[in-house]
Amino acid sequence: MKQIFIRGGVPLNGKVRIQGSKNAALPILAATLLAGGEHEIKNCPKIADVYYMLELIRSQGAVTYWKGRDLYVNTCHLTPGPLEEKKEGTMRSSIFLLGAMLGRFGEVVLEYPGGCVIGDRPVDWHLAHLHKMGTEFGDSSCQITAKASRLVGVEHELPFPSVGLTENLVMAAVLAEGTTVIHNAAREPEIAALCEFLNSAGACITGAGQADITIVGVNALHGGSITLPGDRIVAGTYALGCMITGGGVLLEGAPAGHMTRLIPLLHAMGGSTLITEEGIYLHRREGLCAIPYTVTEGYPGFPTDLQSPLLAALCSADGESAIEERIFGNRFRIVPQLEKMGADIHIKDNVAYIRGVEKLQGTTLKAEELRGGAALVIAGLGAGGETYIENCSHIYRGYENICRDLSELGARIYGE
Ligand code: EPU
Repeated sequence: MKQIFIRGGVPLNGKVRIQGSKNAALPILAATLLAGGEHEIKNCPKIADVYYMLELIRSQGAVTYWKGRDLYVNTCHLTPGPLEEKKEGTMRSSIFLLGAMLGRFGEVVLEYPGGCVIGDRPVDWHLAHLHKMGTEFGDSSCQITAKASRLVGVEHELPFPSVGLTENLVMAAVLAEGTTVIHNAAREPEIAALCEFLNSAGACITGAGQADITIVGVNALHGGSITLPGDRIVAGTYALGCMITGGGVLLEGAPAGHMTRLIPLLHAMGGSTLITEEGIYLHRREGLCAIPYTVTEGYPGFPTDLQSPLLAALCSADGESAIEERIFGNRFRIVPQLEKMGADIHIKDNVAYIRGVEKLQGTTLKAEELRGGAALVIAGLGAGGETYIENCSHIYRGYENICRDLSELGARIYGE
């Protein structure tokens, strides 16, 4: 679906099931290549990025099939060869294939993932730390050519708790000789999910979800199994949708334990929550309040992936808010789109100062990337009149069916 139409101003009410986590699914799909066997990935989201990762692993001989929401990947007969790289430069998660393919086959050729619209996306740390484990890289400037006749466990001190770097090093280490220790590792729940999956396949990893992870290399892995957690970013996006419109929703399967920074913010904005085994009940009966200052950080801090939806919601909050973006330099590029809707936002350095207006006004907008696109949908839900968003294919990279989900909550939203 390329375009989304929204008739705004309708409070969200009802319940919606939250899809499985994208950022857990992608590295786990790469990790299936490390083992020969039949893997089970339950609650896997049916999103464009997952379909693309499936194309890549199938190009290495994996056989994949779905049973409802559960995905099965058979890697018994792999045939390593060139990756079908048609979108390599645009989908960042293909970089995870570096650690997985080096670990299993000892070599890989990938295109550089390159930059992307949310800011520079360098891979320098990935290359430097995999080099420490025995990987040699070719000197081509357009492709990553990597070879490791033998990967060896070493101690890594990460310059920053990078999610992808931590995941790549874990994948390179599971079949390496000896023990790998990662200090200053990222602590995102998606890393814990990757390690849980690898341990179910016979890996020996401790400390996942903490700043120090230890991986003792094993000789071989077998089929693994995991049920993916609900996607905390999708749940957060819909929660912010409910905050901007008012109403009451049940976010079924939302991983409240992974949303500990957002939930107090929802309270500060005027929402109330009830957390049960089913998920998160959220109500916003009164007005929407501004929140003085939020900063994006690695987990357990406020996630950069929710920064744009939060920004969109705060545009019509009562009072002044500020958000500092510390992870990706270009995540404020939706601001001109929000300004077209009447938002009052001032950017200085990497801080957005938002003065709430009474109501945004619907207009024609253009999605330029995944989370920014979802944020425009949130803005449209709260706006008066009609919002028409072009170029929405980005949104389907990470949201299974945002129109279906929000329609279930009563929104007047249509995609085509
Ligand atoms: N960085 C470097 N050099 C490197 C690697 C990273 O300078 O070699 C920098 C980045 O430029 C960035 C910072 O380190 O400023 C953090 O990037 P990180 O490596 O943690 O991000 P990532 O692994 O590329 C994952 C998610 C992103 C999410 C970030 C931060 C996946 C597939 N992607 O990206 O998700 O924003 O962590 O939490 O897991 C999204 O879902 O929309 C998305 C972009």
